[in-house]
Amino acid sequence: MAKLKYPNLFKPIWIKDLEIKNRIVHVPTDISSSNADGSINERVIHYHEELAKAGVGLIEVGATTPDSKTGRPTVTCVVADGDNYIPGLHRLARAMQRYGARCTVQIQHPGRQAAMPRYEQVSCSDIVTVQPASAGHEVVYATAEAKGKAARAMSIEEIYDLIDKFSEAAWRVQQAGFDGVTLHAAHGYLIAQFMSAYTNRRIDRFGGSFENRMRFPLEIIKDIQRKCGPDFPILFRYSADEFVPGGRTLEESVKVAKVLESAGVAALDISAGTFDTPGPVMDPMYYPEGWCVYMAETIKKAVSIPVITSHSLRDPGFCDRIIAEGKADMVGFSRQFIADPYWTMKAYYGKPEEIRKCISCLVGCWQESLMIKHELKCAINPAVGDERFWDIRKASKKLDIAIVGGGPSGMEAARFAVMRGHKPVIFEKESELGGALKYCCMVPHKITKMRWYMDWIRNQMKKLNVEVHMKTEPSISELSRYDLVLVGTGGESFRPDIPGADKAVRFEEVLRCNFFNCPWHPGDRPGPVDVGEKVLVWGDHFAGANTAEALALAGKDVTVVTENKDFAANLEPVHRDVMMKLLSGVNPEGLSGKVPKIPVKIHTSSTVYRISNAKAVIQDERFVKKELPIDTVILAHVRPNNSLYKELIEEGVKAALMGDAVKVRNLLHATREGAHYALEADVDTIMNANLKPCRNLPIEVRWAILGEQL
Ligand SMILES: Cc1cc2nc3c(=O)[nH]c(=O)nc-3n(C[C@H](O)[C@H](O)[C@H](O)COP(=O)(O)O)c2cc1C
Repeated sequence: MAKLKYPNLFKPIWIKDLEIKNRIVHVPTDISSSNADGSINERVIHYHEELAKAGVGLIEVGATTPDSKTGRPTVTCVVADGDNYIPGLHRLARAMQRYGARCTVQIQHPGRQAAMPRYEQVSCSDIVTVQPASAGHEVVYATAEAKGKAARAMSIEEIYDLIDKFSEAAWRVQQAGFDGVTLHAAHGYLIAQFMSAYTNRRIDRFGGSFENRMRFPLEIIKDIQRKCGPDFPILFRYSADEFVPGGRTLEESVKVAKVLESAGVAALDISAGTFDTPGPVMDPMYYPEGWCVYMAETIKKAVSIPVITSHSLRDPGFCDRIIAEGKADMVGFSRQFIADPYWTMKAYYGKPEEIRKCISCLVGCWQESLMIKHELKCAINPAVGDERFWDIRKASKKLDIAIVGGGPSGMEAARFAVMRGHKPVIFEKESELGGALKYCCMVPHKITKMRWYMDWIRNQMKKLNVEVHMKTEPSISELSRYDLVLVGTGGESFRPDIPGADKAVRFEEVLRCNFFNCPWHPGDRPGPVDVGEKVLVWGDHFAGANTAEALALAGKDVTVVTENKDFAANLEPVHRDVMMKLLSGVNPEGLSGKVPKIPVKIHTSSTVYRISNAKAVIQDERFVKKELPIDTVILAHVRPNNSLYKELIEEGVKAALMGDAVKVRNLLHATREGAHYALEADVDTIMNANLKPCRNLPIEVRWAILGEQL
C-alpha cells in the first residue's frame, strides 16, 4: 500500500473498549426508507452496507424511534419499539460489520417535531410551534395558511414510561449486535426540548434549573446502563449552540459535556441548531465548510472522551487537518455520504478529484423527500433511493444517442450512457457546459459549492470522452439519424407583452460570468450587461432569487416584483429561510458577522405594468399602481424551452424530454431524468403511448412491436 495521502483520517481510535479503524463517522441520517411499520428492508441495508464497503470507521444509523405511537421523526424512519424489530436490525448490523465498520443506532423521539402522529404530539411543555422547514411541520394544504402546531406537556408518568422505552430500544439495539447506541439530543427533538431553557417551561423536577433540565437525558443514560451494562458504549449527539433566544449556547454546552462524561457517556457527537433556526441544523450552501468545528474544538478541551465534529465537511484534506490539529477526534458526514457513499474509499486511495462533493442544496435529501414524507433522494446522485442503479448493466447494443443541451440533465444522461456502453453526443448551443447551473454559480454565497458539482460533472465528460459540439443547434434531419434523442434544452426567460418591455434585460444577460481565470470560461462570451444602480427583478423561483441576491451582494439597490403570494416559495425551505433573513437585512444564525446584510424590497402579489426610461410602474393585487425610479428592469420569469422536442415528435423521431425543458423545477429532476433515460436506452427500447421510452417489456410485447428489429 502506497503512503496515505490523508494519514490522520486513517488512524485508529478507541471509544471505550471499541477499536475503530479510522476517524471517519457517518453521523446519524434518517434516510426514511424503512417499511411502513419501521422494519428494516433491503433499501436500508444497501444504503449502510455501501458505506461500510467504502471503509467508513463508525456508522451511526439515523433517528430510530423508541415509541412509534407517540413520535416518528419521519414517516418511514427505523422503529425499535418492539422485539420483533431485532432480527432486521441484526441483519443491518451484520451488513456493516462484515466490512469492518463499527455501528450504533441513534435512538430519537421527536416530541413536538414529530412527522407522525400529525396531531396530539408530546413535548416537555405546552407549546405551539410553526417550523416550516421541518418534517414535522403541519401540512400546509394547497390553499391554506401555515398552521401552528400544538404539543402538550408530558405527565411525570409519561416521562418515566418514555425513559423506559428509550432504554428498551437501546437494549434491542444491543441484542441486534450493534456496537453501541447514540442518543439524539440535537436539533430540537424531545431530549433537546427537555435540555433547553428555550422549550422547557416545566416547574417540576424535569424543568427550571440546569440540573433539572438534564434529568431526562441522565435518567435515560442510567436506565440504558442498567439494561445494557456499563460497558455498552453510549454516544450522545447534541447541538452545542441552538442559536435561539434563551436556548443553549456553547458555554452551557461545555457544562453539558462534563456532566455527560461523568455519567459514563462514551463519546460526544457535536451538532448545532434547532428547527426554529433551521440554517445551523442542516447548513445550506451559505455555510462554509467546517463552519462549526470551533464548537467541537471548545468542547474537546473540556473532556477526555472522543469528540466528533460534523456539518458541511467535504474535502478530505480539510478533514485530515481537523484531526491533525487536534480540533476533534473524529469527522462526521451525513449529506456527503448521500452524494457520494464512496468518499472514504476515494480518500483512502488518494483520489479526491473523483469525490462528488455534496453541494448542500437540500433539494433531494430534504425538500423533495423527508420533508414531504417521501424516501431519501439526492439532487446529484440519482442512485439514491432507486434500486435500478444498484447494479447497472451494459446495454445489449451500443446505441448512438444525441443529447441536445449540455445542462445537468444532458451531462448526467451522457455519463450513464457511456457507462452502459452507448455512444452519446452532446449538442450545446452555447460555448460552455452547465446549463442553468451557470447562473447559480453567479451568486457569491453559492459559487463555491456549485463549482464543486460543475467541475466534477464537466470533468466526468472529459474522462468519459463524451463528444461535445459547442455552439451547435442540430437540425431535425440530423437528429433523426440517431437511435434516440434526449432533449434537455432547459428553460429560458421571456419578454412579457407590456409597454416598454423591450427596455428590460433578461436575467441570463445579467448573471453572466466574467471570471476569465476560470478554466471553463469560454473566453469569447461577453460579460454581464450594465444594469445601473437601481434594479427591479421581475420574476420568481431560482432566476428571480439568484438575480436579486447576486445584485444585492454586488451593492445594488434591488426591488423584487412577483405575482406570487410569497417570494421564492418553491425554493428549498432552509435556503429560503436563510435567504429571506439576508434579504430582510438580518444575519442568519451561525453566520452572524460573516455575512453582509443585503436588504431587498419585495413586492408580492404584484406585477410590472409599464416600463419607461428610468422608471417602472408596478401594480398590486388591488390594482393600485406605484411608480418606482428604476435604472433597469430584469426579466426573471422562466418557461420551458421545448419547441425542438415537439418538432422531433411530430417527425416521428424517438425522443425524450428531460429537466427544465419539461417544467422549470430544480437540479434533482434534471439529473434523475437524464440518468433514467440513459438507463432506458437499449436495443429493445419502445416508445409507449405517453411518448416515454421503456425497455425490458415482456418478450412477446417486444416481438409484437419491434419484430425483426430485435
Ligand atoms: C436527510 C437528512 C437526515 C438527517 N437525519 C438525521 C438524524 O436522523 N439524526 C441526526 O442527528 N441528524 C440528522 N441529520 C443531520 C445530519 O446528521 C447533519 O448534522 C447535517 O446534515 C449537517 O452535516 P452534513 O453537512 O454532513 O450533512 C439529517 C440530515 C439530513 C440532510
